Amino acid sequence: MKEPRFSTRVIDTVFARPDAHGAITLPVYRNAAFEFPDSESIAAAFRGESGRHTYSRVSNPNVTNFEQKASAASGAESVVALSSGMAAITNTFFAIASVGSNIVSSPHLFGNTFSFFRSLAAFGVEVRFVDAGDVEQIAAAVDDRTCAFFAEVVTNPHMEVADLPAISKILRVRGVPMIVDTTIVPWCAFDARRAGIDVEIVSTTKYISGGATGTGGVIVDHGTADWSRNPRLAAVPEPSAGVSSLTAKLRGETVRNLGAVMTPDTAATHSLGLETLLVRFERMSASANALARRFEGHPKVARVGYPGLDSSPYKALSDSLFTGRPGAMFTLSLGSREACFRFMDALRVWRRATNLFDNKSLVIHPSSTIYCTFTPEMKLTAGIEDDLVRFSVGLEDAGDLAEDIENALRNA
Ligand SMILES: Cc1ncc(COP(=O)(O)O)c(C=O)c1O
Repeated sequence: MKEPRFSTRVIDTVFARPDAHGAITLPVYRNAAFEFPDSESIAAAFRGESGRHTYSRVSNPNVTNFEQKASAASGAESVVALSSGMAAITNTFFAIASVGSNIVSSPHLFGNTFSFFRSLAAFGVEVRFVDAGDVEQIAAAVDDRTCAFFAEVVTNPHMEVADLPAISKILRVRGVPMIVDTTIVPWCAFDARRAGIDVEIVSTTKYISGGATGTGGVIVDHGTADWSRNPRLAAVPEPSAGVSSLTAKLRGETVRNLGAVMTPDTAATHSLGLETLLVRFERMSASANALARRFEGHPKVARVGYPGLDSSPYKALSDSLFTGRPGAMFTLSLGSREACFRFMDALRVWRRATNLFDNKSLVIHPSSTIYCTFTPEMKLTAGIEDDLVRFSVGLEDAGDLAEDIENALRNA
């Protein structure tokens, strides 16, 4: 048989040990501790020699199974699962940053990521904001103390796409790892490793959870980064040194010390979510594409943000990176905050809620919610506009979703 394709790989990744009852899906191991027959075997497990679980803050059968399925889906060397997308971001930077180091990043970031980056100043870590659309600017900003370049694959809510393969080329030459939050376009539509990404951060709360079943996040290590100049990762001992040193550091120290682990229940539901990801994504992204096209040029819409539109400056990049499916998020600019509020209040099918890629279609005004604690200067830096509504397209009938927007635009 040829190399199995996406859904087959994910569904066929089963837990290595057979279940006593032959359960077709791994039962949920909701326990905190695992017992051992004698002192030597628990000591060996603590030394990591037997591959056995000791305590669910360190590892757990359901979490391991979810990590293996996510590896099969992403093609990555290893995946570390955590309690949320933000836990994945914070654990990554707690593992690699140190006093005097810097992160070169686009300022167009999800609100909590922006806010976390600002808080790193208190730990002596500088964040250098650059225009991710300007490769020369990135090249000029990185130096010997840059622990990573960071960006979002499609910026939320700006809907920009950076030329990741071009950025990766200059970062490779300079020995700087590229870490990208790929939450907006899932693995079935985007091959991150081919785009040159070393480490992906994904909020599994979104597409993967299978309908907003709980928060989760993963750090996806493609094993391609050069960590040799990173003072913290260079200290990781053999045999994990080298390309695996990030994962070794995370598993051996950062994740267990910070304790923001994924629960067994979340791992079980997110594993099921991964099994149905492709079919849900195909439907959601097809609907998003149809809706973005339908409302472009509408007299009450100043601008539609969606990289798949022919008029988008990111169309060519989006087609080549995302096989023409840049995700299930789009935005409408409606002229003013008041117009956005009137429009949102007139919607009947779309739900006013903050999340992305639930089975239910969601709408939000980012400036007054996700970014409500930002000062005007922070909003300016982060590129947050007051007249923008963000849509996350779910699984309802696309015709009903379109009619609802049409009616709300008319009535608002
Ligand atoms: C692009 C992006 N990254 C990260 C996060 C954070 O994920 P979580 O809410 O699971 O912590 C979000 C949440 O909306 C997001 O949109």
